[in-house]
Amino acid sequence: MNLPPNRRILLIDDMQAIHEDFRKVLAPPVAESDELSAVELALFGDAAQPTAEVFSLESAYQGQEGLAKVQASLQAQRPYAMAFVDMRMPPGWDGVQTIEQLWKADPRLQVVICTAYADTSWTEVLSRLDVRDRLLILKKPFDAIEVFQLASSLTAKWQMAQDAAEQLTRLEEAVRERTGELSAANDALQLEVGERKHLQGQLVQSEKLASIGQLAAGVAHEINNPIGYIFSNFGTLEGYLAQLFQMLDAYEAAEGSAAQPEVTTRLRKLRAEIELDFLKEDIPVLMRESQQGIVRVRQIVQDLKDFSRVDSTQEWEWANLHQGIDSTLNIVASEVKYKAEVVKEYGEIPDIECLASQINQVVMNLVVNAAHAMGDERGRITVRTGTAGEEVWLEVADNGAGIPPDTLKRIFEPFFTTKPVGKGTGLGLSLSYGIVQKHQGRIDVESTLGQGTAFRVTLPIRRPLQQDAVLATGI
Ligand SMILES: Nc1ncnc2c1ncn2[C@@H]1O[C@H](COP(=O)(O)OP(=O)(O)OP(=O)(O)O)[C@@H](O)[C@H]1O
Ligand SMILES: [Mg+2]
Repeated sequence: MNLPPNRRILLIDDMQAIHEDFRKVLAPPVAESDELSAVELALFGDAAQPTAEVFSLESAYQGQEGLAKVQASLQAQRPYAMAFVDMRMPPGWDGVQTIEQLWKADPRLQVVICTAYADTSWTEVLSRLDVRDRLLILKKPFDAIEVFQLASSLTAKWQMAQDAAEQLTRLEEAVRERTGELSAANDALQLEVGERKHLQGQLVQSEKLASIGQLAAGVAHEINNPIGYIFSNFGTLEGYLAQLFQMLDAYEAAEGSAAQPEVTTRLRKLRAEIELDFLKEDIPVLMRESQQGIVRVRQIVQDLKDFSRVDSTQEWEWANLHQGIDSTLNIVASEVKYKAEVVKEYGEIPDIECLASQINQVVMNLVVNAAHAMGDERGRITVRTGTAGEEVWLEVADNGAGIPPDTLKRIFEPFFTTKPVGKGTGLGLSLSYGIVQKHQGRIDVESTLGQGTAFRVTLPIRRPLQQDAVLATGI
């Protein structure tokens, strides 16, 4: 939007007659316009008649007075578009001095310098003023049309410069606004890209775990059968061995009464050679150890099955998470108590619908892992709980060794362990991951090397609809 054109003109001249002449040309009283034509004709000769286009003309008689008017007009936000300035105005400033001061106050002011003297050194004038494009020269005697045209075109020029400056400001504002919008959009985009990368990473991780889960389920199934009959055969074998030992005892007792003494000697020699007494002691030990081994293998197979969720015979129930955590902490107390003190920071949480004993298993894995992460000094394990919207969370945080980034990527893989043989199978976390997935929850980990690790399990309060049910109801 352009402002109404500025037609305000200041005339600075020490001669009253000049002011009157200018007023007739630039600001004639409307009623006098006919009279004006006659006067103009007398004054300026047969110049073309100015039209009724009227300027607002103000007068000053000395340079200082002119400057004061310019300053006042600026203050009132009604600046002059142009000024006519006389060259000689004793006793005050001359025209050049005046113009210098005017431009200091308002650099936009268009100026016409008026002179009657041919001896004026224009080179000197121009070198004293930083002229550029705002100064024109008008020589006396004045021509009405010259004065009028100068006024018309310089006020129009002022207005155009003003409009251009305003447009530029608006443009700059628009650019600034647009830049702001763009940079906000860019920030949002960056955030989304980061979020997507994160989700993609999670997806890759869960797909990897799902395929490992299938493999594990297959392996578990294959191992399950042979383990089953080895285990039951062991029971039978134990019985048979007891009977064989009974038989051997009987033979041993009858050794002395053999009909032929050389038979007795041979039997005794054989017994010594095979160290029968030692065998009788060692065989039950070996049997027991093997049986324990098989029990352990069966447990691993069961864990694998749980991880891959092949058979879930458990019941869903509403359970109190704090009770579950407390009883689990009791069970693992012997493993934990020399390694760390356990601090409970329980929040207010409602009962949740879950497979309670499996959730306990998750807690156990996390707490035992935390205890294993401790060094020589006794550390601290903090168990926290809380609610967030429709979910509850439990956190097991330790101030142990922490997990290096490379390891962190793999901790949920089955059989991934950094522990020595016999100390860890690497199934604890993968199993926990499977259980939490089954509850449609999340398990997150944050770890700082040398400072500790925190695992956070987030679970829905209510058991979510099963996939099939979701499909069936079309939700
Ligand atoms: N709190 C922890 N602090 C440091 N490292 C941990 C922590 N929890 C898990 N880890 C790392 O993750 C690995 C995998 O843990 P996971 O519980 O699956 O197996 P494990 O403890 O090695 O064996 P298992 O639990 O089967 O006895 C661990 O070997 C260990 O390197
Ligand atoms: Mg573990």
